[in-house]
Amino acid sequence: MNSQQLHAPPVMTNNEATYTTVKVAQVANWVLAGNVSQFPSGVGGTIKYGNRQVAVFYFARRDAWYACQNLCPHKLENVLGRGLTGVQDGIPKIACPLHKKAFSLEDGKNLNGDCPPLAIYPVRVENDLVYVGFAD
Ligand code: FES
Repeated sequence: MNSQQLHAPPVMTNNEATYTTVKVAQVANWVLAGNVSQFPSGVGGTIKYGNRQVAVFYFARRDAWYACQNLCPHKLENVLGRGLTGVQDGIPKIACPLHKKAFSLEDGKNLNGDCPPLAIYPVRVENDLVYVGFAD
């Protein structure tokens, strides 16, 4: 393993789709996800960008938006958008509806196991429209 691999961001693939965390500074494309009214608090909405599926969440109590890959790293199922949201030790989280693995929506880390982290995407809201940032 060379030093570039050691410091590479987490990447997850599901045959054809590849997921990598995107920081705001890396955004090349803000993709319209929908109107804010389409994302009730705590209920995930899923968008497709190319062959990737990204789950988008709004936490009303924090007035905060989060987006992560829809693909659960446990069994590689596209289900996280249907997961249960919550807060654990102050960290907003999504729990997979299948086997309840929970992931931080801030950095993607698995909070109750040793699954690989989720890729996290920045969210921007402008004029009641919700955008997810992609690096490509
Ligand atoms: S598939 Fe998500 S926890 Fe098992």
